[in-house]
Amino acid sequence: MKPVTEEQALSIRIATHGQFAKYEVNDWILKNLNLKKGERILDIGCGNGKQLIPYAKIVGDKGLAFGVDLSEELLEELKEAAKKSKVSIKVKRCGMEELAEGLGKERFDAAASSFAIYYSKDIDKTVSDIHSLLKGGGRAFICGPTEGNNKELADLHVKVAPLPSKFIENTQFMAKTALPTFEKYFKNVKTSIFKNPITFPNKKAVLDYWSSYTLFNEMAKDRFESLLDDYFAKKSTFVTHKIVLGILAKK
Ligand SMILES: C[S@@+](CC[C@H](N)C(=O)[O-])C[C@H]1O[C@@H](n2cnc3c(N)ncnc32)[C@H](O)[C@@H]1O
Repeated sequence: MKPVTEEQALSIRIATHGQFAKYEVNDWILKNLNLKKGERILDIGCGNGKQLIPYAKIVGDKGLAFGVDLSEELLEELKEAAKKSKVSIKVKRCGMEELAEGLGKERFDAAASSFAIYYSKDIDKTVSDIHSLLKGGGRAFICGPTEGNNKELADLHVKVAPLPSKFIENTQFMAKTALPTFEKYFKNVKTSIFKNPITFPNKKAVLDYWSSYTLFNEMAKDRFESLLDDYFAKKSTFVTHKIVLGILAKK
């Protein structure tokens, strides 16, 4: 059992990246999307709006920032955040396996999905729907963890417990499953890698992150904690690297 809900875990990970990561992942995402005022963008697995709010600020009132997610709770948080930021957004509770059905006649200049596509239970349909929801010449930018992501944290973890299969699957999904599927549906596909060191200043910060992550293992918590005690007795910081694969696909 995780000590927190999926929604709380997402907030902890976002806060950790905000505090301790060297770079802001949204800067890299926005550069790849090259979003313009007046455009219509669909954010798949938008969560509580880490990307959708910035998209809404760029496209403005004449454009559309449309977010879909399965979590009602995160969509409610997102609506509140949009009100606070005074931006206009549209949201819908919709699984990424049912985008065509959920979005009907809506069409978009751009589609984005950050750290969410590996949740798809039917990647072929998800990508085919993204393709059909884009206008001619539209583009999609999809990103998620890839080989070597959080290797340092995983190396620490294997000293107390085996790597969970979900962690391995999520790390392999982008390159092995998502990329070939985008290549099947889109004529122009390019990839890029984003590397972001996260420097944790103390044991609590590492433990909170690990506890909110796919690596978390209740049975191994005490052993992981004492491993961290030993580590921070000798060193003042712990660094792990986020390695993210971006897929830019043009229609
Ligand atoms: C790791 S979060 C990423 C959220 C946001 N894009 C970000 O970077 O902060 C993954 C999101 O995917 C959503 N999700 C999981 N399975 C989904 C599905 N089958 N269809 C749509 N959204 C899903 C979760 O509710 C969660 O908000």
